[in-house]
Amino acid sequence: MSFEEMWADLAPVGRSASSGGYFRQPWTSAETELREWFRAAASDRGLEVEQDGLGNLLAWWRPDGASGPAVLTGSHLDSVLDGGAYDGPLGVVSALAAVDLMHERGVVPTRPLAVGVFVEEEGSRFGLACLGSRLAAGVLPWEKARELRDRDGVFLADALEGAGLGVADSAAWGDLSARFGCFVELHVEQGRDLVDRGAAVGVASGIWPHGRYRFDFTGEANHAGTTRMEDRSDPMLSYAMTALAAAKQARLAEARATFGRVEVAPNGTNAVPSRVTGWLDARAGSESALASLVEGVTRQATERASRDGTSLDVTAESVSGLVSFDVGLAARIAADHATGDWPVIPTAAGHDAGILAAAGVPTAMLFVRNPTGISHSPAEHASMADCLVGVSALADTLERLLT
Ligand code: GLV
Ligand code: MN
Ligand code: MN
Repeated sequence: MSFEEMWADLAPVGRSASSGGYFRQPWTSAETELREWFRAAASDRGLEVEQDGLGNLLAWWRPDGASGPAVLTGSHLDSVLDGGAYDGPLGVVSALAAVDLMHERGVVPTRPLAVGVFVEEEGSRFGLACLGSRLAAGVLPWEKARELRDRDGVFLADALEGAGLGVADSAAWGDLSARFGCFVELHVEQGRDLVDRGAAVGVASGIWPHGRYRFDFTGEANHAGTTRMEDRSDPMLSYAMTALAAAKQARLAEARATFGRVEVAPNGTNAVPSRVTGWLDARAGSESALASLVEGVTRQATERASRDGTSLDVTAESVSGLVSFDVGLAARIAADHATGDWPVIPTAAGHDAGILAAAGVPTAMLFVRNPTGISHSPAEHASMADCLVGVSALADTLERLLT
């Protein structure tokens, strides 16, 4: 089955009829359908499929005589809420198509190849980005993960059970750096770097440090009509000023700050709210710049809360340090192609590749041009021609690493 046919197969799964975006949250029916699709597509290719208790998948190509640490490729199939089609699935479908292309080219790997699918990369359901790879790498203990709850209060352990999965003791895969010689994740670019350079594919140099921080502002619920403005403890005001301050500080520091998720209690039109929770997604070019951005926003939020008569709790829900991908591997992948060297570019988006790199696996990423740079949106796009260039680039890369 060609790349185009696989892509067409996935197009309707989890797609919203109203927005055209995707809701492929982990351990829901759409995501389960995608995992089943992957298992079938891998089996059709003679790949041996392994699934752990979370639903992380590995599809193995182990030709006779192949030995030593494996080359890992792949990406994720889950999406953000109302996300695009490409973030994640492009890397998975391209990996399967690259296996086909290597077969056509008569490539005989001397090492095993695994196509991986990591669950809950986006953290859209349980709030923690790269949940599947963090557990696999052993950097998040299962005892802690099992306590995570989704927006409806469902525990991770119960969500897994509901999806016919389950993690008894540990979800960790052992020493990843012994098992995998390297990891190459292909991904749609989530900015405009490749468009500006006129290149269809590029190689990642590293990932900005980033984190998610929950800001809980607590005030006093009261009547919207009878409560004088000066008598209120309104957490919405503290939150609103914090969102504006975060944007200003990020602009000044050439960093990023986003409040993309807010919960208001009780969420009634005619009552001053009792509580507002906003989640800050913050990213910066260095760990110290990230820390000072979050400190600065927290300081302004605290000052404003004290003026409003509200209280503030800030919780870091996940923080990922700077990732510098293996320089030698990136250079080897990027150099010497018919179209010239591929550009090596940084990214401010998070990826499972960052978790594997931190776990000691030499890791690289290939990016495929995105004509608008828009991502985490139904408008995310890559042309079919560029996707096919990406498949061929991934096959070239894997061939270099496997033979
Ligand atoms: C994941 O795509 C992220 O950057 O949050
Ligand atoms: Mn994403
Ligand atoms: Mn992604």
